[in-house]
Formats: sequence, C-alpha cells, structure tokens
Amino acid sequence: MSGIGTVLVTGGAGFIGSAVIRHLVGDVGVRVINVDALTYAASPSSLAEVDASPLYSFKHADIRNREALADILERHRPDAIMHLAAESHVDRSIDGPDDFISTNITGTYTLLEAARGYWSGLGAGDRSRFRFHHISTDEVFGSLATGDPAFTEETPYAPRSPYAASKAASDHLVRAWHETWDLPVVLSNCSNNYGPNQFPEKLIPLMIIKGLAGEPFPVYGSGENVRDWLHVEDHARALWQILTRGRTGESYNVGGGSELRNIDVVTGICRLLDEFAPAADGASHLERIEFVTDRPGHDFRYAIDCAKLENELGWSPRESFESGLRRTVAWYIENRDWWQAILETRYAGGRLGTRG
Ligand code: NAD
Ligand code: TYD
Repeated sequence: MSGIGTVLVTGGAGFIGSAVIRHLVGDVGVRVINVDALTYAASPSSLAEVDASPLYSFKHADIRNREALADILERHRPDAIMHLAAESHVDRSIDGPDDFISTNITGTYTLLEAARGYWSGLGAGDRSRFRFHHISTDEVFGSLATGDPAFTEETPYAPRSPYAASKAASDHLVRAWHETWDLPVVLSNCSNNYGPNQFPEKLIPLMIIKGLAGEPFPVYGSGENVRDWLHVEDHARALWQILTRGRTGESYNVGGGSELRNIDVVTGICRLLDEFAPAADGASHLERIEFVTDRPGHDFRYAIDCAKLENELGWSPRESFESGLRRTVAWYIENRDWWQAILETRYAGGRLGTRG
C-alpha cells in the first residue's frame, strides 16, 4: 500500500497526462485533481471517460500562478503531485522558445515553491508520505551516435534543443529542492511516447493524418534519425510504479526497447494505411514519402537503458511497437472527430521548426 489516495496531476489535459489520469482513476482508483492551463495542446475530450467520476476534478490554472496553486493545494490536500504540464514540442521550441522557458523552467520553479509551502505545513506522517514526481524526457541527455551505449540515469546532461534545455533546467531545479529543503521528489526520464490522443504535431499522429488526407509524408533529412518508442499506456503504468515505489531523490529512465529509424516508422504507418485505408487509385501510401529539409540541430539518436526501473520496480513494457502502432493507426481512423477539431481550430498540419 502506497498510502496515496489523492494525486494532483499537472498537464492532465495533454497526451500523457490524460493517459495517466485514465489509469489512476480507471485502474488504480485514486482521487485526481487535474491542474491544466488548457493551452493549444490540451484536449479535455481525452478525459471523457473519467469526466463524470466522483474521483476526478478539474482546475483551470496555470503552473506559473503561485497563488492559484497554493489555493488548490490547500483545498484538495493531495498526497502527491505528478508534474507533467509543459511545452513539449521541439519544433515549436525552435520557432519560439519563450513559452518553453516560461512554463518549463519558471512554471516548474513556481510549482516547486507552492509544493514546498504546502508540504512543510503538513503533519509529520503526511509529510513523510508526500511525493513530488517530476516527469521528464530522455532528450536532456543529448544525442547519441550509432553504437553508443544507451542513456542510463548516470549519463551526464547535454541537452541540445531549447525544449531539451528547458526540461534539463527543470530537472535540476527539482533535484535542488530535494537537496536543499528535503522535498521528497522522484524523477523519471522517458523516451518518445505514442498512442491515442497525441497532438498531431508529433511524428506518428501527423503521419497518420497526412496519410488519411492523401498528403505527402514529410520525413526530415534522410529519415535515418533514431528514436525509442514507448506506448503511452505503458508509460502511465511506469509512472504510477515510480511515484509509489521509487526511491526518494532518485531518477528512473523509462523506455520501450523499440529503437527505430524515422523512415522505418513512417514506412510502417504507410503499410498499415494501405491495409486499413487504401488509396482510391490503388497506389501505396509509400509513394507519398518525401524527404524534406532537416530540423536545425536535429538530435540523431535516443536510446534508453531502463534496467534500473525493471530491476527495482519490476516494470516492463507490455505493448510491442508492432501491435501498438497498429492500435494507434486504428484509433486515429476511428476517432476523426478528435483530431479534426484540432486541425480546424489550432493546427492544420503545416511545417514547424525551420529556423525561419
Ligand atoms: P502535451 O503537450 O500533449 O500536453 C501538455 C499539457 O500541459 C497540456 O494539456 C497543456 O495545456 C498543459 N500546460 C502547458 N503549459 C501549462 C501551464 N503553464 N500551466 C498549466 N498547464 C500547462 O505534452 P505530453 O506529450 O503529454 O508531455 C507531458 C510531459 O511528459 C511533459 O512534461 C513532457 O516534457 C514529458 N515527456 C513527453 C514525452 C513525449 O513523447 N510526448 C516523452 C517524455 C517526456
Ligand atoms: P517528434 O515527434 O517531434 O519528437 P522528438 O523530436 O521529441 O523526438 O519527432 C520524432 C522524430 O521524427 C524526430 O527525429 C523528428 C522526426 N519528424 C519528421 O521526420 N517529420 C515530421 O513531420 C515530424 C513532426 C518529426
């Protein structure tokens, strides 16, 4: 028993946050307070299945608003915070780093201060049980070459994009609050997630939607860049394990053991679309793959060693990339309303992150 009955989740209307909340409310059965500013990346409809649950409540607030955070903490008295709210897209961090610095760095600082104020006022039992879980990315470790060993928790930080640098800064702040004030923190650094409800600026949903629209698939550079892919539901399970059973002050890498070149991911999507949504003229979707100008400073390869998480906490991914990608393509075909609303109002699928 973790003793955790109420969790404050930041960024719960986003891709991973909504999967975490569906897991916490639907599978684990704990109370969740979702604090989200509802930026362009938020989709409250991703939470439709928990919306009516008495375990779930939503607070529209920005993590940069210290007073709002203090008020929510005092009213709801969570046993833990899972901090996912962030600006999350590398290409947008190239087009405009401001929001990344502000939300990811200042926002995390503001949340840490609000959490410290609340935690220091708790009684001894509640104080020792409290946890601040910071959810971060493997991109803080920088870029690997082919054959380099995968990132471990000991790999030195070497972020290269504005997004990665802002997340690295937030990781450092979280560790500093632990070292300086003993705030009971735990961190996790995860590889690329995919699955349902992912905003269509990211590679996998963008390619599925381009394919369904009969448009070209824009592959950056030569398509040789490598990412490790993890299904979002496996990530959500890992996060609950880390929150409840991870050691205070430690960080845990989370990965899918599915390293793939971008071109192989896109080819896989084309083949699934050929099966599920064949083009009217009978041509394969593969014929519409286009190699386009590379992303500036494009990290070549990410690879994660998550032996610590597997050995200490017994977690391992359940979904293979093959079955997960098949389920994901099917989800986007069956849930057109979800992404059409985004295309019509917030993002029409244009190229981002080209340095002007
Ligand atoms: P997302 O962009 O889909 O969602 C982010 C959410 O945070 C949105 O609901 C948005 O409204 C909210 N938000 C943004 N700024 C806010 C602010 N100032 N105050 C309150 N809420 C705010 O992001 P995601 O892909 O779900 O990523 C969630 C977290 O996981 C991020 O911290 C990200 O760095 C980390 N992460 C993501 C991946 C990935 O592959 N997507 C991998 C590893 C780690
Ligand atoms: P992305 O989903 O943006 O995640 P990240 O940059 O955080 O890894 O991109 C994944 C990979 O796909 C990355 O190497 C960039 C590449 N990519 C394309 O080739 N074309 C695209 O249109 C997008 C959005 C990404």
